[in-house]
Amino acid sequence: MKLNSYIKSLLGLFCLSILAAACVKISPPGGPLLLQCEYQTDPIGIDALRPRLSWMVNDSSRGAAQTAYQILVASSLELLEKDEADIWDSGKTLSEESALVTFTGSELKSNTKYYWKVRTWNNEDMMSPYSKPASWHMGLLRSFDADWSANWIGNEETGKPPRSIMLRKEFETKKPIKQATAFVTGLGNYLFYLNGEKVGKDLLTPGWTHYPKKIQYQSYDVTSMLKSGKNAAGAILGNMWWSSGLGWQGGNERYSEGPLRFLLSLHITYTDGSKEKIISDKNWLTTNSPFVSNTLYHGVTYDARLEQKGWAMPGFQAENWDSVAIVPQEKVKLVAQQGPPIQVVEEVKPMKVTEVSSGKFVADFGINMVGWVSLKVKGDAGKQVTLRFAELLDEKGNVDQRNLRSAKATDKYILKGEGEETFEPMFTYHGFRYVEISGVDTLDASNLVGKVIYSAAPTTGTFECSNELLNKIQENIVRGQRSNMHSVPTDCPQRDERLGWMGDAQIFAPTASYNMNMSRFFAKWEKDITDSQHEQGYVHDVNPAIVVKGPSRPGWGDAVVVVPWIMYKFYGDKKIITDNYEGMVKWVTYMERKANNYLYDWADPENPNALEYGDWIAPVESPKKPIGAAYFFYSAKLLGEMSRVIGKDEEGDKYDSLCSKIQNIFQETYFDEYTANYDSSTQTANLLPVAFGITPPTLKKRVIDQVAKDVEANGFHPSTGFLGTSYLLPLLSEYGHHEVAYKTATQTSFPSWGYMVENGATTMWELWNSDKEPPESMNSRNHFALGCVGEWYFGYLAGIRPETFEPGFKSSVIAPMPAGDLTWAKASLKTNYGTLESHWQKKDGKFILDVAIPANTASRVRIPLMGIDKPTLIEGTDYLVKKGRKDDDVSGIQIRSIDKEFIELIVGGGRYSFVLNLE
Ligand code: BGC
Repeated sequence: MKLNSYIKSLLGLFCLSILAAACVKISPPGGPLLLQCEYQTDPIGIDALRPRLSWMVNDSSRGAAQTAYQILVASSLELLEKDEADIWDSGKTLSEESALVTFTGSELKSNTKYYWKVRTWNNEDMMSPYSKPASWHMGLLRSFDADWSANWIGNEETGKPPRSIMLRKEFETKKPIKQATAFVTGLGNYLFYLNGEKVGKDLLTPGWTHYPKKIQYQSYDVTSMLKSGKNAAGAILGNMWWSSGLGWQGGNERYSEGPLRFLLSLHITYTDGSKEKIISDKNWLTTNSPFVSNTLYHGVTYDARLEQKGWAMPGFQAENWDSVAIVPQEKVKLVAQQGPPIQVVEEVKPMKVTEVSSGKFVADFGINMVGWVSLKVKGDAGKQVTLRFAELLDEKGNVDQRNLRSAKATDKYILKGEGEETFEPMFTYHGFRYVEISGVDTLDASNLVGKVIYSAAPTTGTFECSNELLNKIQENIVRGQRSNMHSVPTDCPQRDERLGWMGDAQIFAPTASYNMNMSRFFAKWEKDITDSQHEQGYVHDVNPAIVVKGPSRPGWGDAVVVVPWIMYKFYGDKKIITDNYEGMVKWVTYMERKANNYLYDWADPENPNALEYGDWIAPVESPKKPIGAAYFFYSAKLLGEMSRVIGKDEEGDKYDSLCSKIQNIFQETYFDEYTANYDSSTQTANLLPVAFGITPPTLKKRVIDQVAKDVEANGFHPSTGFLGTSYLLPLLSEYGHHEVAYKTATQTSFPSWGYMVENGATTMWELWNSDKEPPESMNSRNHFALGCVGEWYFGYLAGIRPETFEPGFKSSVIAPMPAGDLTWAKASLKTNYGTLESHWQKKDGKFILDVAIPANTASRVRIPLMGIDKPTLIEGTDYLVKKGRKDDDVSGIQIRSIDKEFIELIVGGGRYSFVLNLE
C-alpha cells in the first residue's frame, strides 16, 4: 500500500477510535496561522500573476487534518472583514492542500494590494474561524512605458570600473498622501534615499542576475517617508557584479564599463483617489559621490570630505551639480525581487584587538564571517584609515591576505574631521575573520562592529547532539552557508572568484534546505542558469554565466536538474520545474547528443588539455569518465521523475527508457560483478552509481560493503571530493554501516570534518587540508561544499527526511539512528506545514523519542530497536507493542511493520513520546 493511502486510512481509523471514545471531545480547528504568499508574509511588489498561498492548520489534536478550505481575497480590508470577496472566493474547496495553493481569482493589477484570509475544515467537517487577514501587493505588471513611465538616468562616464555618482531630485506633494510605493532599480547597484533616509533594509540591490536577460527591481512602501509639501529623492550608484570586474585573471570580466544607471518610479495615491508618479528623468541632477572607488574584490575608498550635507533632503542647494544623462538601456526584462534580499542578519563584536605595531591594529572577530565592518573614528580631516580584511594571520600576528589571490579586500576611509564619524563600505563585501586597521592613533573593540550580510533566507533548521565536535561542525556548516549566499550561491566569499559554481551548489542544496528555506533563493538562481543557457543546450559551470563559459562539467552542469528536484522534495514546489523544464530537457538532450553509445563523455578531443573536474579536491582521485556517464543517467532519471510530477507521463517514460539504456551499458562497462566494485574501486566510484540508482537494487548492499571496507581500511577517513562526499555517510548508514559512518563523521585526523575543527576552522574549508596546502593557489577557508555532510546530521542522526511521493514534508520520515557514544540528538525543521521535531535520548535504561508532526501532515516514524529482541514500546501510558507482538492501533498511531531492527509506525499530526525499554 502506498504510504499516503496508509495515512488516509490512519486518519480514518483515528477518527473512528476517537468517536468510539465518548469521553474525547473533538473541537473545531482554530483560525489558520502563518499565512504566506509566495513563501513571504505580506509581501510587497511580487510579480507572480497566480500567486501561491500557504497557511498552517491550527489544530494540535492528534491526526488533525484539513479536508477543505475556503479562501477569500478582497481589494480592501473593509470588504474582507465583511466577507465580501470581490477578487476571489474559492468557496468551500475539498482539498487537504494547505501549502502553495494557487490563486485563481480575477486578474491582478499592477501596484495593487490584496487582502486575504482562509478557513479550514477538519476530518469531522468542523469549520475553523477565519484566520487573521494577510495581504500581498503586486509589483509592476504592465509594459515598461505604461507602468514605469521613467527613464534610466546617470552620467556619460565609463571606466574599468566607472566612478560612483549621486543623483537627486526634489518634488512636491500637494495633497494628503494615502499610499506611496517606490519601484526602484539600478546598474551596477544602488542606495536609494527619501528625505535623507535610506529606503529599506536591503543591501547590494538590485542583486546579481543574468543582466543581459533580467534585472530585478525592489518595491518599498514609502508612505511614511514622504511629507506633504517638499520632498527629495536621492541615489548613490556603485559597481558590484555588473561593472566591478569578475574572475581570477585580474578581475577583468564585466557586464559593462558603465555608465552606471538608475531607474525609479514612485507611485503616489492621494486620499482623494488621484495618483501621481515621481520618476527618474532628465530633471534629476548628478555629481560624483564620496565613493572614490568601489569594487567587489578590492573594496571601497570613501572620502568623507566629499560628502554634501543634506544632499538627499529638500532645500539642498545643488548649484555645482550637473544635469543627468538619459542612459540608453536595452529593453531587458525587469522582474520583481525573486530571492530573499541581502541584509545585515547579525552583528559581531571583535573578541580581541591587538596593536601589532605602532598605529597598526588587528581585530579578531573570533569567527570567519562575511559582510563588512562598521568603523567609528575621530580625527582630523584628510586622515586616512585603512582596513585590510583576511581569513588568516601570519606568524607575527599580521593579517595574511595571500589566499585572496588578487583581491585586495581593502577599505579606505578618509575622515572629514567632524567629531565621531561612522563608515560602512556599502558597495562590496569581504570574507574575513581578521581586520588590520591602520591610520588611527588608538582603537579598541568598541570602534568596530562586524556586520554579517547575506541573502537573508529564513532559518528553518536546528540540529544538536551530545557530541560537541558534531555541534561545532554544524555551526561551521551554517556559517559557511551564510557566507556563500549573495544573490547566488557562491563557491567562496573572499578571493577573486565568488562565482555561482554549479557543482558546489547542487551538492550542498539538501543541507542548505535543512538549515534555511531555500525555495526562493534557488528558484531565482535556477532562472539565472536557464537564462544564460547556450543555444546548443548546454549550461555553464558558473551562473549567472560569466568568466567560465562552455559546456559545463559533469556534476556541475547537472545542477540545472538536481536543484529543482531538491526544491520539489523540500517544498513540494512544482513551479521551479515547470518554469525551467525546457532548460532541463535541453541539457539532457545535449548530453544525449554528445554521448557515445549512451555513455556521456565531457572530454573534447579537440581540446584534450581542458580540465575536467571529476571528484574535485578528492584525496584519492576517481576516474572521470564514469562520473560523467553516471551524472548523465542521474539527470535523465530526475528529469523523468519531474516530467511525471508535472503531468508529462509520456516524457517520463521516454527518460526511463533512456535511463535503462545508460544503465545497461554503464554496468557492462564499469561494474565488476565478481568483486562488486566499479572501475577503480574508489569510494566515489562506488558511491555515485548506488546513489543515482544505476546499481540494480539487489547489488547495492554489496557495493556499499566495498565502500565501508575502504573507509575502514583507510582508518575511517573519507577519500571523497565534492561529488562523492555528500553520498558517503547517508549510503553507509542506509546499507548497514552506520557505525562506520559515525566513526568517520567524528574523525579528527586528516582527511575529515573534525580535522578542520581541530585545526581552528570556524567555517568549512575548500580543501580537506587547507592548513597544509600553500595559501596562494586555491585555498579558501570558507567553501560550503564539504558541508554537505549536514544532510546526514538531520536526515540520519536525528532522522528527519522528506518523503518524495508526497513532497514538501506533507509526508515525512522520522528515522533517527543512534550511533557510537551519542546519548541524544535533536533536530527541528520549519516546513510549509509547521515545525517537525525529532529528539531522541538514551536515559535510565530507556530510549525516548519525542516527535512533533505538524497538523495536516503524516510521518513514517521508525524506532530503532538497537538489538533488543523483545521490545517493549510504551507510548504515553498505552502499550503499543508488548513482547514483540503487534497490538491494535493506539491513539492515532498505526503500526506499519516490526522487524529485527525497527518498529515502523505511521502517525498523524501531533506530539508523541515513544519510550523503548532497553533492558
Ligand atoms: C571553485 C570551486 C569550483 C571549482 C571547479 C574552484 O575555483 O572555488 O569551488 O567548484 O573551481 O572545479
